[in-house]
Amino acid sequence: MSDVLLELGRRPGARKLVSSLGLPIPMPVDLARAKTGRTERPLAGKSVAAALGGGAVGTAIANIVAQAGATSWVLGAAAAAQKAGEAWGAPPKTLDIDAIAADVRFHGLVFDASELTEPAQLEQLYAFYHGVVRKIGKGGRAVIVGRDPRGLPPAAAATQAALDGFARSLAKEVGRKAATANLVYVADGAEARLAGALRFFLTTRSAYVSGQPLFVSNDVSGDAPSSWVRPLDGQVVLVTGAARGIGAATAMALAQEGARVMVLDRPEDQAAAAELARKIDGVAVGVDITAADAAEQILAAAPGPITVVVHNAGITRDRTLGKMDAARWNSVIDVNLGAVARITQTLLDKDALAPGARLVCLSSISGIAGNAGQTNYGAAKSGVIGFVTASAPLLAARGIAINAIAPGFIETRMTDAMPAAIREVARRMNNLGQGGQPEDVAQAITFLASPGAIGITGQVLRVCGGALVGR
Ligand code: NAI
Repeated sequence: MSDVLLELGRRPGARKLVSSLGLPIPMPVDLARAKTGRTERPLAGKSVAAALGGGAVGTAIANIVAQAGATSWVLGAAAAAQKAGEAWGAPPKTLDIDAIAADVRFHGLVFDASELTEPAQLEQLYAFYHGVVRKIGKGGRAVIVGRDPRGLPPAAAATQAALDGFARSLAKEVGRKAATANLVYVADGAEARLAGALRFFLTTRSAYVSGQPLFVSNDVSGDAPSSWVRPLDGQVVLVTGAARGIGAATAMALAQEGARVMVLDRPEDQAAAAELARKIDGVAVGVDITAADAAEQILAAAPGPITVVVHNAGITRDRTLGKMDAARWNSVIDVNLGAVARITQTLLDKDALAPGARLVCLSSISGIAGNAGQTNYGAAKSGVIGFVTASAPLLAARGIAINAIAPGFIETRMTDAMPAAIREVARRMNNLGQGGQPEDVAQAITFLASPGAIGITGQVLRVCGGALVGR
C-alpha cells in the first residue's frame, strides 16, 4: 500500500500545504538509494567533516574517507589526514568549526572517539557535533567510531558506552532530514577492518539504518578486501524465500555484486522464482525449507561451493495467544527458526561451508520488542538471535561469520496485510518517518554477506529507520 504522505511530499506545493496543517508528524523526506552495484569511490563529490585522533583509528578513518573519494575537512590529526589525502589525490582542508562558510553542507560527520577514556572528554564529542550538526546535508551521515566498552576499565567503559546513547539520540534529531547517525566499535588491532562498516554507514547502502551500533572485531581470520567493486564476483550464494519481497530484492542486490544466486522458494512458487533467476542469471531452486532433506536438496542444486547463505524465508500466522491454534504456532516456529538451525547444521556437518563463508539470518524487530498477536513469530525471531549469538564463536573457529538482520517496518506484502490504521502508525514510528523498502534490507544483507564485513560476527543489525520500539 503506497505511502500517501511520502508521495505528497514529493510535490513542493502539496508539501508546503500539508506542512502548514501542523500535523503531529513531520513530512517524511525521500531517502536516496543506490541504483547500481558498489563502486570504488562512492563518496566522490561529497564533503566529510572529521574529527580525528592521532592513533590507529584516526589514521584508518582518514585513509578510508580519502580512498572512498570524499573531500575531507579535518579537525586534529592533520598529518595522518594529509598523508591519506595525498595518497588518494584528495588533500584535506582544515576544519575551523567557528568559521564554516554559510553555504557549506557536509554529507558525512565522522568523529573518532577511540582515544576517549574519561567522561569529561566527551565534551570533545559535544563540541564537534554541536559545531557541525546544522551543516549536515539532506541524506547526510553521522558516524562515531569508538572502542568496544566490554573489558575496559569502568571509566573508559562508561565513556565509550556513552557513545551509544549519543548516537541513538542524534539519529532521532537528524532523521527529519533523511539523515542517519550510527556507531562503530572497533577492537584494538582490527582498524584495518573498519572500511566495510564505515563505507556502509557513510553511503546510500545504509539508507534505512539509523541509531545502530556495529562491532568490528578480530574474530574470524582473513584479510580486508582489496577491491570494493563486485565483491561477490563468481560466488555461489543461497537466498531462501527469494521469489518475492525482501528475498527477491536481496537476490537482485547480490547478483549486482557479481554473485551466482540460488533463488530458493517453495515448489508452488517456482514460476516467480524461475522468472527472477532468469533475470539475474541465477538458479531457481524449488525446496520447502521445512522438508527433512532440505539441505541435501540445496546441495544437489548448487552450481558450485556455497559461500553465502541468506536465511530469509519466513511466514507470519498472527493471532492473540488464546486464539492461536497449534498449527499456527508450529508452522511459524519451524519455518522461521527450526529450518534455519537444521539446514545450517547439515551444511556444517557435510563441510559444505568453507572458511570465508558468511551466513545472514532474518530476525525482526518483533523478536526484539515483541508484538501483540505475534507470540509465535516473536519467539521464532528472537530465537534466531540466540542461534546467531551462540553459533558465532563456534563458526569463527572455522573462519565463518554469522549475523542477523532485524528489519522494522518494510513495505512488502507482509506489511500490506496489516489493518490500515495500524499500518499507518507503524510506518511512522521511526526516526525517518516512513517504512523501509525491501532493497534497504537487501543492501544491509549484501554488506554482511561481502568480504568487506570482515570482523563482524554474532551481531544483530537493525534495518528499521531507528524504530522507536526495542533496543
Ligand atoms: P514475503 O512473504 O514477501 O516473502 C517470504 C518468502 O518466503 C515467500 O516467497 C515465501 O514463499 C517464502 N517461504 C515461506 N515459507 C517457505 C518455506 N517453507 N520454504 C521455502 N520458502 C518459503 O516476506 P518478506 O516480507 O519479504 O520477509 C522476508 C523475511 O524478512 C522473513 O523472514 C520475515 O519474517 C522478515 N521480516 C520482514 C519484515 C517486513 O516488514 N516485511 C519485518 C521483519 C522481518
